[in-house]
Amino acid sequence: MFRITSLFIISLLYLSFAYQDDYSGYKVYQIVPNNEDELKTIQILIKHPQMDVWTSSKLIGHPTVFMVPPTIDYRLRSSLRVNNLPYDTLIEDVQSTVVNEKHEQAAARRIASKQNGLLTFKQYERFDTITWFLRNLTNLYPDIVQLINIGKSYEGRDLEVLKISSGGNEDKPAIFIDGGMHAREWISPATVLYIISQLVENYSENSALTDNIDWYIIPVINPDGYEYTHTMSRFWRKTRSVNLNTYCRGTDPNRNFDFHWNEVGASSDPCDEIFAGSDAFSERETDALSNFVLGVKQNIKLYLTFHSYETVARRANAVANKRYTVGSSTNVLYSAAGGSDDWFKGVAGVNLSYTIELPGGGLSGFDLPPSRIDEVVQETFEMVKVFAGYIQEKFLYNRFLLH
Ligand SMILES: *[C@@H]1O[C@H](CO)[C@@H](O)[C@H](O)[C@H]1NC(C)=O
Ligand SMILES: *[C@@H]1O[C@H](CO)[C@@H](O)[C@H](O)[C@H]1NC(C)=O
Ligand SMILES: *[C@@H]1O[C@H](CO)[C@@H](O)[C@H](O)[C@H]1NC(C)=O
Repeated sequence: MFRITSLFIISLLYLSFAYQDDYSGYKVYQIVPNNEDELKTIQILIKHPQMDVWTSSKLIGHPTVFMVPPTIDYRLRSSLRVNNLPYDTLIEDVQSTVVNEKHEQAAARRIASKQNGLLTFKQYERFDTITWFLRNLTNLYPDIVQLINIGKSYEGRDLEVLKISSGGNEDKPAIFIDGGMHAREWISPATVLYIISQLVENYSENSALTDNIDWYIIPVINPDGYEYTHTMSRFWRKTRSVNLNTYCRGTDPNRNFDFHWNEVGASSDPCDEIFAGSDAFSERETDALSNFVLGVKQNIKLYLTFHSYETVARRANAVANKRYTVGSSTNVLYSAAGGSDDWFKGVAGVNLSYTIELPGGGLSGFDLPPSRIDEVVQETFEMVKVFAGYIQEKFLYNRFLLH
């Protein structure tokens, strides 16, 4: 009898764990440092293990945004006051943004279900739909697309790279694009999917981008984490692999690449959001990606990896003046060893390697509301066109000269 009771209690506990994370009382603050001292204080503040940093910058005048659980909120605000640091409360109650997003997603899904198969870019898609979309493309456009399986995620999901090629010349310059490395950055897969959609479904209009360039594109490199943010924990960032001797799961894939692995800006603590992993390429996802890239590296001339969250203030500025903050990520954002961009350049020899930070949701949550996906993805595609134009100019022209 005792046994049965304790089993019953254990299964009750399990059930309660199976519910989604609740972010009631969580707040999101924004601080914009006006001088070096404030910048330093912020850098120390955000090291607190319970702070969830959504974006941070090493530049004066650029915002740092972080989420705080109710348990440390009071202490945090006293500390900000003591340090004379002015701050804005960006989000009063994070849970309400999560609920709003769910409602918007559900409404968009009802409309989308009436259309046949095509992605609408009015909602953040689930991994299964993304996989179907890619597989459908191979059936509909067999002459230009090919889906290459590069391995499986920790939980067994297929990792598939879409190759887009107009054929002909075997050694055309290639562009490699990935998204969804950090699970919660939903705008990243959305953007990468839009690039695919324009290159393939709008092939005739955009053929200038595919005539002389091959594309390798993977929209969600961390599908386990991505699905987990849709079903359990909206702000999950890492992979979902089990770590030894701890309940804390996952590794930051963007600290797990084998180039100056775990030197700076990464953590050896599996409970940290920037955990570098038990070893370089300990994660199946980064391991599969790197093995594939090493096989085609001689063609890859440009690497683009899409992340978020870029802050609204900077974004608004960027949209108004068409000005982006450009610089090496170490100077502009933060030092982070083991990142994919450095590995592509340092190991795979892809000299043009860029991390693109897409806009975050500002007052709306981590991501922009689904209704605003299309404006972001369209604008970003314009940027991708400029990159592609440069690759054509530089590499085709050079080859022509050599002949
Ligand atoms: C894929 O194709 C099938 C069969 O035509 C269709 O039912 C489905 O909606 C499509 N899905 C996507 C995401 O394109
Ligand atoms: C196809 O591409 C052209 C040129 O880039 C663009 O003007 C048009 O809006 C695109 N069509 C769709 C359906 O996205
Ligand atoms: C990358 O740059 C280095 C140094 O400028 C050069 O030697 C190398 O050939 C370049 N690699 C490619 C693939 O263009």
